[in-house]
Amino acid sequence: RSLPPEVFHWIPIIGSAPSYGNDPIAFLADAQKKYGNVFTFVMLGRKMTVALGSAGNNFILGGKVANLSAEEAYTPLTTPVFGKDVVYDVPNEVLMEQKKFIKVGLSTENFRSYVGMIEDEVSEYMAHDPSFRTFQMNDINEWGEFDPLKVLAEMTILTATRTLQGKEVRSNMDKTFSKLFSDLDGGFTPLHMIFPNLPLESYRKRDAAQKKLSEFYISIINGRRDNTSTNDETDMIAALMNQHYRSGRALPDHEIAHIMIALLMAGQHTSSTTGAWTILHIASRPDIADALYQEQVEKFSNPDGTLRSPTYDELKTLTVLDAVIRETLRLHPPIHSIMRKVRADFPVPPTLAAPSKDGVYVVPKGHFVLASPAVSQRDPTLWHECDAWEPARWNDADGEAQKAFKQYADENGEKVDFGFGAVSKGTESPYQPFGAGRHRCIGEQFAYLQLGTLITTMVRKIEMRLPAGMPGPNYHTMITMPKTPRTITYRRRNF
Ligand code: HEM
Repeated sequence: RSLPPEVFHWIPIIGSAPSYGNDPIAFLADAQKKYGNVFTFVMLGRKMTVALGSAGNNFILGGKVANLSAEEAYTPLTTPVFGKDVVYDVPNEVLMEQKKFIKVGLSTENFRSYVGMIEDEVSEYMAHDPSFRTFQMNDINEWGEFDPLKVLAEMTILTATRTLQGKEVRSNMDKTFSKLFSDLDGGFTPLHMIFPNLPLESYRKRDAAQKKLSEFYISIINGRRDNTSTNDETDMIAALMNQHYRSGRALPDHEIAHIMIALLMAGQHTSSTTGAWTILHIASRPDIADALYQEQVEKFSNPDGTLRSPTYDELKTLTVLDAVIRETLRLHPPIHSIMRKVRADFPVPPTLAAPSKDGVYVVPKGHFVLASPAVSQRDPTLWHECDAWEPARWNDADGEAQKAFKQYADENGEKVDFGFGAVSKGTESPYQPFGAGRHRCIGEQFAYLQLGTLITTMVRKIEMRLPAGMPGPNYHTMITMPKTPRTITYRRRNF
């Protein structure tokens, strides 16, 4: 049996944890140069086998359940946070049924009702939050400043609770809910992934918050059962309350509650950091900010010069907006490493890594495997000026993204769709900010709707600048966030 090459390290057990932890993308790209697309590194006693490039993405994201398990890789982190009997606390076939239930709630019909709600929340926030004090003063010459990470995190949770989570959650945002969310979130860190239970305050708070949040959602469900007038809501709780497993068993209340917590956690940091990176890039490029604004003016101007609200269907036709979000996700996919645990020895195809003299490489049972679409999304052989944020590459008919996908599609006989939020979804695509295969994200359309509405509402109201330049990425959190300082200056638009 031939094992993949192992990255050299000085300290046993700890292995490459410090280099991977500080900058996983640089660490992986550097090891790729030395060892090729498949290699193993040691991280705190675990063997992590990495597969890079489009073929590496396919090897892991297209892998079979018999070989690879997401639940064994993620459950120590997620089960204490989400709760029992959902997502990675159940066998894969149960998760697949649960994802179908969630899709019922993520319907186009529901989405159509969300655009106005999101616009409302953002407008209200900008009218009242102290970050937008100079905006509130109505003086177009007065510049103010805000921290995009703070602002986008708050707008994201306000809009997600108003729409998907439902009105009972939204109306408790100022009270108990946000404190519980913050305690729970404190248990969702790389430390908690490696050590699921330590006698520390953050773990105690996590467990207490999970229990209280679960009870809170169950009380909402019971309240709705007792009151038929609230049964026409267009939110996720309403959708989940009607679902049954194939066996005929109804989805129990505690599972609905835990799925709601899972969705809250899955959508919050991913969307809010993507929003923060997007706003930072927009502020750094007044030409693109202007193109975004002009797109709004062209499509939504009223005869009196004011702008009307877009509908969900219109939002999907905005090509500048689409390219801006898509390009931000290329450079800053919030999830840099996708992991699975190896259940059964798993041979590496010779097309992905040339066999050694002892034969094809085998990834043995017990290893973890790691895919990082973040690396293929910056591959200099596929993307022209791979590190530059250039949304035009998605709109330009001869642009680089088009070329990368054409190459991929030609090789795989796949049709490539350049529609809103719908790039090739194949497991071998070089562009996978939402993952691929059976564990692919089901929140993509919602994220585009939420981010698109949030960003255009801001761009309509204010002009932005980024005096200090783009901040670097902070990899010490589960989701890759912009470091400080990250101050954006802004002033009110003249309308
Ligand atoms: C899975 C990214 C927003 C719910 C995933 C995966 C990625 C991802 C990369 C695959 C993980 C894996 O294979 O291990 C993102 C990004 C988002 C986003 C970049 C926003 C910009 C959301 C939202 C929701 C959501 C808003 C919920 C409303 C889920 C769910 C899964 C998932 C349920 C499936 C997990 C599985 O099958 O194992 N997401 N996500 N995501 N995401 Fe998202």
